Amino acid sequence: MTALEKIGPQPTRLNGTVLYDWDYLVQEDRAHRLIYTDPAIFDAEMTNIFGGTWTYLAHESEIPHDNDFITRRLGLRPLIIVRDGEGQIRALYNRCTHRGTTLCRWEKGNSKSFQCPYHGWNFLNTGKLRGVPWPEGYAADLRDPKYNLAQVPRVESYRGFIFGTLNLDALPLAEHLGAITTVIDEWLDRNPGGKVVVCEANRFRYKGNWKLAYDNSCDGYHVAYSHRSLLETENRFAGENAKGMAYYRNSPDTQPMYMRYTGHGNHYKDKRPNLEKRPGGLWALESAHPGMEHYEAEFIRRYGERAFALLDLAGSEPVNINVFPNLSLLGNHIQVFEPVSVEETNATWYGTMVVDDGSLGAEATTDINALRMRTQEGFPNFGEVDDIANFEQIQRGLLALEDEWVYMNRGLGIPGRVITNADGTITAPATDEAFMREHFKEWKRLMQARPNLAIRREP
Ligand code: FES
Ligand SMILES: [Fe+2]
Repeated sequence: MTALEKIGPQPTRLNGTVLYDWDYLVQEDRAHRLIYTDPAIFDAEMTNIFGGTWTYLAHESEIPHDNDFITRRLGLRPLIIVRDGEGQIRALYNRCTHRGTTLCRWEKGNSKSFQCPYHGWNFLNTGKLRGVPWPEGYAADLRDPKYNLAQVPRVESYRGFIFGTLNLDALPLAEHLGAITTVIDEWLDRNPGGKVVVCEANRFRYKGNWKLAYDNSCDGYHVAYSHRSLLETENRFAGENAKGMAYYRNSPDTQPMYMRYTGHGNHYKDKRPNLEKRPGGLWALESAHPGMEHYEAEFIRRYGERAFALLDLAGSEPVNINVFPNLSLLGNHIQVFEPVSVEETNATWYGTMVVDDGSLGAEATTDINALRMRTQEGFPNFGEVDDIANFEQIQRGLLALEDEWVYMNRGLGIPGRVITNADGTITAPATDEAFMREHFKEWKRLMQARPNLAIRREP
């Protein structure tokens, strides 16, 4: 690795990590309100979590060609995720080295270079300064690497998911992801060629801390209550067979679904055991949406025997896979949590499409994706709003200064309920808060650590 620059001590970072008693703030069964409301803790998270561990940045299918780019953030740092002219994926700081303005103001595009709108400095998409207007006005040597764009020193992909970290001591990505890759693989491998293409997004912003979304990502306890109207809507025309998330009604802990914690803050909720294992088993669960019967009849008319296996590809995979701190795969969506401030967060839902690997054919691929778009309009529009309302009301509730604790002790201390497996993963019933207790251990570990942070510049 070349041209690394160590990050020197900075007052808020040091204060953030040193002044707090993390063992007091996060206990086995409860967490203190300050971790959701204190701006100094948020500042410390922006280095120790978003920087100190691997964070999801983008999907390779969003920048499929050389010189494609997309703008994203790592914590609060504005980034340009680019595939340079040689195909290397980089995460450049979207910040001109001259006086710090946002360099690229486009959301995405294709470009070999970026020209700063302020004074016209021009950078190659490798981050190297290519030229400046009227260079004779500088005595300084502008070939000095310090004028090249900063970039995230470590960028790695796992099967198309691009992650970055500033921490030179972080484990290699695949090792860090560990056992969560098994279920990511399964999520991908049900698609032809084991691939998806990420498409456009439903964008939400809520007035609440980013962790409220992650605390909810594997929460099977709230579904029957928070999403009651959605469950009722999904089942209004359902007849005998329950649709959508109906398995959360009555007694969810006696259903075959479960949650599993796999380490490093990652967990998943597996609702697939609730399905009937047959072609069309997933589709049978899909809740009603306009035009559905017509689509189904058309699939059967066109594809005969194959129709139900194809319809399953349009159906939402009943699993929530959560990769700490900011990525969830749910149904066929990719959801990304992006902190904006201690009390503001973007929660973006990206749709995914199947690609033809030769086994599908162009017509079936188009038909599946058209139907997939319809099914993917469901939860973000009808479910996410319920969750966001809760997150905002929690942030408000936490303004009650003297009532200091939030509890996450459901399932704790009941013999035989939470099981540690031979491989170190932890399994618990669907409504258990074991996932939250475990990801807070990882959060606390990271907040107490002194990560070895650096940026890189092209030499
Ligand atoms: S701030 Fe970019 S060229 Fe001046
Ligand atoms: Fe929810």
